Amino acid sequence: MTPERILITGGAGFVGSSLALAWKRDWPDTTVIAFDNLRRRGSELALARLKQAGVAFHHGDVRVAGDLEEVGAFDLLLECSAEPAASAGYGGSPAYVLDTNLGGTINCLEAARRHGAAMVFLSTSRVYPIDPLRALPLELVGGRLEISPGAAGLGWSAAGIAEDFPLAGHRTLYGTTKLASELLIAEYGAMYGLRSVINRCGVLTGPWQMGKVDQGVVVLWAARHHFGGTLSYIGFGGEGTQVRDVLHVDDLYDLVRIQVGNLDRHAGATYNVGGGPALSLSLLELTAACRQRSGRTIPIGSDPVTRESDVPYFVTDSGSVTAATGWTPQRNLASLVNDIFTWIEENETSLAGILG
Ligand SMILES: NC(=O)c1ccc[n+]([C@@H]2O[C@H](COP(=O)([O-])OP(=O)(O)OC[C@H]3O[C@@H](n4cnc5c(N)ncnc54)[C@H](O)[C@@H]3O)[C@@H](O)[C@H]2O)c1
Repeated sequence: MTPERILITGGAGFVGSSLALAWKRDWPDTTVIAFDNLRRRGSELALARLKQAGVAFHHGDVRVAGDLEEVGAFDLLLECSAEPAASAGYGGSPAYVLDTNLGGTINCLEAARRHGAAMVFLSTSRVYPIDPLRALPLELVGGRLEISPGAAGLGWSAAGIAEDFPLAGHRTLYGTTKLASELLIAEYGAMYGLRSVINRCGVLTGPWQMGKVDQGVVVLWAARHHFGGTLSYIGFGGEGTQVRDVLHVDDLYDLVRIQVGNLDRHAGATYNVGGGPALSLSLLELTAACRQRSGRTIPIGSDPVTRESDVPYFVTDSGSVTAATGWTPQRNLASLVNDIFTWIEENETSLAGILG
């Protein structure tokens, strides 16, 4: 499809604002509306950039159906609003994560249904349950955990975790709200003909991510190396060997563009989307990359106790989305880390209060 009026919920957030600005850059005639309640600290920094690029901003809350109604009609919804921390709800009320990530999806679906709009939903690798991920056979290779050579099972292999990884088990409230949202999206597809694509993303990163201790680890690491401060290797013995794959938000944009451009082909699909083995790294390796780029060594403590929500290893097998679209990530780890440091250096003053 060629959308004429795009609504991006969470449009002042890291992913939402990145998609909004890239879309407006590539299709200046498209109306792009960023909708956000500015809950995430640092999202307010996006407002001037959105305005300058000609992206409209609507201050609203996905928990409030009326706020979405005020926006009027749209033909494409990029749903990027969320409480995005896997730790959300632990040690406190689950209200915000449930109301935003599930109640908000329902309100978004209703708005999309009323306007006959298509939807791209930002889901997460966190839909995969914790205990089976912790049970994967892992070996320490240098400073990182790896799947034991030759080992493989349903939905997992050396290529990473695929869409058919079994879903039985608990997965955090964050992951559950996303999986429940996926189920509702599928029902809206079957019942109302809603056309949608679901992208289960691994770790996304890049400039303008407001990294904090419980979300946005690559930027958190880079910012501490730039501004100074301390970090900690938390869980799995406190040695920093846990592994994730990372994807540059610009690579995500490239994929969303392909999917929207050929929605007839991709509607109804659920894809795992991530950097894959080539773009995976342990915390120890992330530290080495940050030290090299910043020329600085900061104290990094060790807390061996594993948090309830954490897994030692997640690398995305994006094989099915690559087969369906031809898409593969174009940015390598060095350029990703470099982009983040360059952004911090160029925006040091405004970022110091948030990331410093
Ligand atoms: N960043 C990642 O590594 C990652 C990985 C997998 C999936 N995702 C998903 O991608 C999407 C975007 O994540 P992000 O990294 O940009 O997070 P972010 O926190 O930077 O952006 C989310 C935005 O949603 C806004 N928001 C929160 N509650 C809201 C509400 N009730 N109403 C309106 N706006 C609200 C926040 O203010 C913020 O600007 C989320 O759905 C997230 O779950 C992110």
